[in-house]
Amino acid sequence: MIPREFDLLKIIAAEWASRAIYIAVKFELIERLAEGQKPIAELSRSSAIPEDPLRRVLRVLVKLGLLAEHAGDTFELTSLGSCLRAGAKGGLADWTLLWGEEFRDAYGGLPDALRADRTAFDLVFGSSLFEYVGRKPDVARRFDRAMTGLAEFLYAGVVEAFDFKRYATIVDVGGGQGTLLASILRSAPGSRGVLFDQPHVIATAGEPLRKLGVADRCRLEGGDFFQRVARGGDLYVLSNIIHDWDDKSSVAILTQCKEAMGPRGRLLLVEMALGGDSGEPDLARMTDLNMLALTGGKERTREEFAELLAASGFRLERVTPVQPMTCLVEAVPA
Ligand SMILES: C[S@@+](CC[C@H](N)C(=O)[O-])C[C@H]1O[C@@H](n2cnc3c(N)ncnc32)[C@H](O)[C@@H]1O
Repeated sequence: MIPREFDLLKIIAAEWASRAIYIAVKFELIERLAEGQKPIAELSRSSAIPEDPLRRVLRVLVKLGLLAEHAGDTFELTSLGSCLRAGAKGGLADWTLLWGEEFRDAYGGLPDALRADRTAFDLVFGSSLFEYVGRKPDVARRFDRAMTGLAEFLYAGVVEAFDFKRYATIVDVGGGQGTLLASILRSAPGSRGVLFDQPHVIATAGEPLRKLGVADRCRLEGGDFFQRVARGGDLYVLSNIIHDWDDKSSVAILTQCKEAMGPRGRLLLVEMALGGDSGEPDLARMTDLNMLALTGGKERTREEFAELLAASGFRLERVTPVQPMTCLVEAVPA
């Protein structure tokens, strides 16, 4: 019998694998391989990593299914590996870089942060994640691209699961670059949209709306959702916003949404709901830990959503699982 410790060892070693993926993106090995099969000598020249250590990194990536190795010391990108190409639809290149740098550094502070009841990100960087991102334009661009890549696969299925056509004006609060709102507006040709986010995000947002040909039906508005949210919507969508915040801040954001909408308005949270009859979405507990470490937010159960919504003047109507990591939480003014 194989000792069970091997299974544990594999879990502990996951960070080594993650590091190899980071190196492949950081030194643009993935970009070179996206051009076609490459011999190790060429990859060594382009990355400035000597052949022997490079081969050892690449062989880890082969084991992970991201590359294939051919005779003659030649490597090729697999279809899974191609999800790491810069700009790939649903791509994880920017997410990998965020992970390999700021987020990974923040996790170094997690043990002390847990005891101090603070987020690890605040402890290590001296400010909240969103303040930090707001001060660093390069990180902000990377963060926004990472969110766009995630949105392209996390929200596939949302427009089939909810009839957006019933709403004349749809406001996406904290909508980032506009990936979700673009597919919503494409599914609802008679609706108009408002993309609302922080001014520095709005300054570069909108590309997904232009790509899907819906930009002429969408207004972009910058602001702080703790102060005020765009008025006049029939439907307010918040995707992966509430999980970034603790209960007090979440109630503050939701209360602003309630004030911005009329009594007949509707709220749609796109989140993952922990537990419940349908089981737990993949990665939900991991993401909950991630929120604890990075933002001070949390993933919530259906009951916790109901309480949070009640405290913000809403009544929870239903929670609909859409796909791994994505649920629709619908509420109306109480
Ligand atoms: C986790 S991202 C989610 C982005 C997008 N909704 C998605 O699902 O891809 C959180 C978003 O909240 C925005 N945000 C954070 N603090 C904000 C604030 N005070 N006012 C408005 N937007 C804010 C960020 O700029 C970012 O776009």
